[in-house]
Amino acid sequence: MSVVEGDQTYVMHTYGRLPVEFVSGRGAILVDSAGNEYIDCLAGIGAVSLGHANHAVVAALKAQADKVWQVSNYFYEENRNELASGISELLSALCEEDGHVMGSTGTAWRMFFCNSGAEANEGAIKIARRWGEVKLGGASCIVTAKQSFHGRTLATLAATGQDKFHESFQPMPAGFTTVPLNDIDALREAIDNPDDTTGPVCGVMLECVQGEGGVWPADYDYLRAVAKLCRKRHVLLLIDEVQTGFFRCGSPFMYQRAGIEPDIVSMAKGIADGFPMGAVAARADVADLMHPGDHGSTFGGNALAAAAGRATVETLVSENIGEHVLTTGRHLRHRLEAMPHVSQVRGHGLMRGAQLDVPIASELVDAGLGKGIILNHIGDSVLRFLPPLVITRYQVDKVCDTLEALIEELA
Ligand SMILES: Cc1ncc(COP(=O)(O)O)c(C=O)c1O
Repeated sequence: MSVVEGDQTYVMHTYGRLPVEFVSGRGAILVDSAGNEYIDCLAGIGAVSLGHANHAVVAALKAQADKVWQVSNYFYEENRNELASGISELLSALCEEDGHVMGSTGTAWRMFFCNSGAEANEGAIKIARRWGEVKLGGASCIVTAKQSFHGRTLATLAATGQDKFHESFQPMPAGFTTVPLNDIDALREAIDNPDDTTGPVCGVMLECVQGEGGVWPADYDYLRAVAKLCRKRHVLLLIDEVQTGFFRCGSPFMYQRAGIEPDIVSMAKGIADGFPMGAVAARADVADLMHPGDHGSTFGGNALAAAAGRATVETLVSENIGEHVLTTGRHLRHRLEAMPHVSQVRGHGLMRGAQLDVPIASELVDAGLGKGIILNHIGDSVLRFLPPLVITRYQVDKVCDTLEALIEELA
């Protein structure tokens, strides 16, 4: 039975798969079962932050695999605290934007580890509702943005501001409402005059760059106004950094570039270089509203994940990956902007969306595979770039040379 037949027969058809089976990789290169090499501009949907088979992460995983994998959260374990403190430092890091130093006012963070981005957001929603219960007289509504994406579990789908994901799966969990991104008046209205069906608001959850929605960044001014409004109303600000976090946009987390400080931050993807892991961080005084028994996960932050996460975070920092992301991301932007039929390039760092003025995005992805480049599209007209953060300038040039030729051929 071929790999395609096996997949068709035994695996649920929730993905349209591209016709290639990858068997190995190194850095930004993937190798298929026939030995062909590809430059990867998707990184397992933004997860493989340090590239495929990173030496430090592989070594940490191998060493841990020989010792112990899973003991549960009922016990202490190696690496968990080091990973948590490493991420806490990143959450409080300073960052320079437009000549200004942005960053923390000394917030202490506490982490909860889980296995995915959706789970991280589930945790974030529960913490915000606990805040609403204790501090806001039972407020439980979470405001999110239209075109947002927060995950595939039912609560995170309800939080996701795209009706197409809700249609077949009614009823959605209650207590979510959406407003247009970059419209502070709409958000103020949603908080000050809440809908009778959703009730008073306890939190606002936003992506600083909407990834799955088509790579749409929130304006810095908007994010600053949101942070100010939330603080004034005692409503929590939840920033979903699942896609933007861990230097994807240059700074450790994207909110730092806007110069805001959230109360809760969800993260996953790049946290462990592709090993399944997620986390939610909350300001210590908010986190401390959660007590033993309030939340949990069998596998969350297990020994293998903690080892992989710690090695990833330490290497991202020691290799000064943020600088590389900023310079390589700028180069990618300039190359994309110069291409025919690219009408706009959006995003930050190595999270970029190229808007095409012809609806050929999916054809480009298919054709790119035949030419040794792994691309990704959102809808008919947006190409999204989420390469491993270690992609080189030379590899970016190779991808862009190939893509430019394909656009000329197919447009
Ligand atoms: C911003 C954002 N939040 C949450 C998720 C869900 O993450 P996961 O697929 O790990 O559950 C994603 C996935 O693409 C995402 O981009």
